[in-house]
Amino acid sequence: MQASVQAFFEPVTGTVSYVVYDRDGGHAAIVDPVLDYDPKSGRTRTTSAEALVGFVREHKLAVQWILETHAHADHLSAAAWLRQQVGGKVAIGEKITEVQRIFAGVFDLGDDFARDGSQFDHLFAAGERFSVGELTAEALFVPGHTPADIAYRIGDAVFVGDTLFMPDVGSARCDFPGGDAATLYRSAKALLALPDTTRLFMCHDYPPAGRAPSWETTVAEQRRANIHLNDGVSEADFVALREARDAKLEMPVLILPSVQVNIRAGELPPKSANGVAYLKIPLNLM
Ligand SMILES: [Fe+2]
Repeated sequence: MQASVQAFFEPVTGTVSYVVYDRDGGHAAIVDPVLDYDPKSGRTRTTSAEALVGFVREHKLAVQWILETHAHADHLSAAAWLRQQVGGKVAIGEKITEVQRIFAGVFDLGDDFARDGSQFDHLFAAGERFSVGELTAEALFVPGHTPADIAYRIGDAVFVGDTLFMPDVGSARCDFPGGDAATLYRSAKALLALPDTTRLFMCHDYPPAGRAPSWETTVAEQRRANIHLNDGVSEADFVALREARDAKLEMPVLILPSVQVNIRAGELPPKSANGVAYLKIPLNLM
């Protein structure tokens, strides 16, 4: 069954969020919602997430799921705020526990930070089936960018997370803690083994000069034209090119704030005694 898909492009971080639904008046999943964050002032805003709420209300959708493809390192998740507004279960891949363990070390989080994924309402196992209204759906385990990435197939649409990018951009980086280029290659090849006409929806777009942002492509187009992962690129070629490129990339501007919020399912850290929540900055570690 064909899923209805509405994309929302957030230009500051190049992130694409989605509302996926079966029909007007039916059921929906929200994929990778963004909580706006200004690093200069430390202030969060819900402008981007409010657009999702507006769409959900306009189309009279019952939100069943708020799906994270992974613990993002470039933007904060609006999942916790959205659940208060429109409901739905906040879900991520079950290997998030590994990411929580890694970053509990990086941020020296104490015993009150649970590393069992319990901040989320649901943890998906590889290949787990679920539904969005009348649409069948499946959690596809696609590690490599992080150890925990999930792509979501909902109806005929696949939300690939940070695996493939648009054909002229290529692929997601693999140099964050727990990332691995060979693993990403195998995950991407599994996605590209889906039927040629499968609609693929990107998590990000960083368009080259002169091209407008875009986020939808197909398996056939990626196999033909993806600059990192077309059918002619071997695993060894990919690993060499991905690792050379990653060695030159700076950390994302928002990695430190993002990860601290996203491993908590989009909740801000607990408030201090003065009623203010704080983020930590590890010095000379990353
Ligand atoms: Fe990411």
